[in-house]
Amino acid sequence: MKLFIDTADIDEIRKVASWGVLDGVTTNPSLFAKTSGMTYDEVLREICQITSGPVSAEVVAEDVEGMLREGRHFAKIADNIYVKVPMSETGLEALARFHAEGIRTNCTLIFTANQGLLAAKAGANLLSPFVGRLDDINQDGMIVIRELVSIVEIHELDSEVLAASIRNPLHVTQAALAGSHIATLPFKVFQQMIHHPLTDKGIVQFRSDWDKARKALEARSGAAAGAAGSSR
Ligand code: E4P
Repeated sequence: MKLFIDTADIDEIRKVASWGVLDGVTTNPSLFAKTSGMTYDEVLREICQITSGPVSAEVVAEDVEGMLREGRHFAKIADNIYVKVPMSETGLEALARFHAEGIRTNCTLIFTANQGLLAAKAGANLLSPFVGRLDDINQDGMIVIRELVSIVEIHELDSEVLAASIRNPLHVTQAALAGSHIATLPFKVFQQMIHHPLTDKGIVQFRSDWDKARKALEARSGAAAGAAGSSR
């Protein structure tokens, strides 16, 4: 399963890229709103210099022509831009038109397998069901991932399922076991996946045993040198 980071924060993206585990980036207007000092175009340009994987840039227009205008503009920023289009009647038309123009897309705000099926048929490259937001309203978001992965496989659709709105490490494991092609995670979830109390404790223990063994060795060789000196 490919791992994307779900952020517009350049430092977070650089950090995850430095770990060698970054396959792409998803942004959205809310994530961009958390950044400061740069335009959305500047943020996207910088992200595309960090990763050659897919970078999702979301349109905010609600009409087809507006979506097409924004998406064509994003697509010119870099070759790895995927235009993120919300699931809606106008969104489906925009997805179909982008597909015809050879512009790659990510259909966002998917909450049912049927929405994902429609997006795939309209030509979306990536299908983004929102797991966490479904869990938030007491529905099992992972069911949509499982259903959509099966639909894509059974019907050999030319789209990948991207598990989005991931809230915790368990979501990542479940998405991977469900066969999701991609999951996009907040920076915090990457960190949570790395750490385990026994791992962190083990690192401290190994370091301390190593230091103790080295000190004992130094003490033994110091004592042996002292004994050799006094016997002369
Ligand atoms: C996906 O591409 C979205 O940016 C994202 O996963 C939304 O997640 P949220 O529900 O945490 O806002």
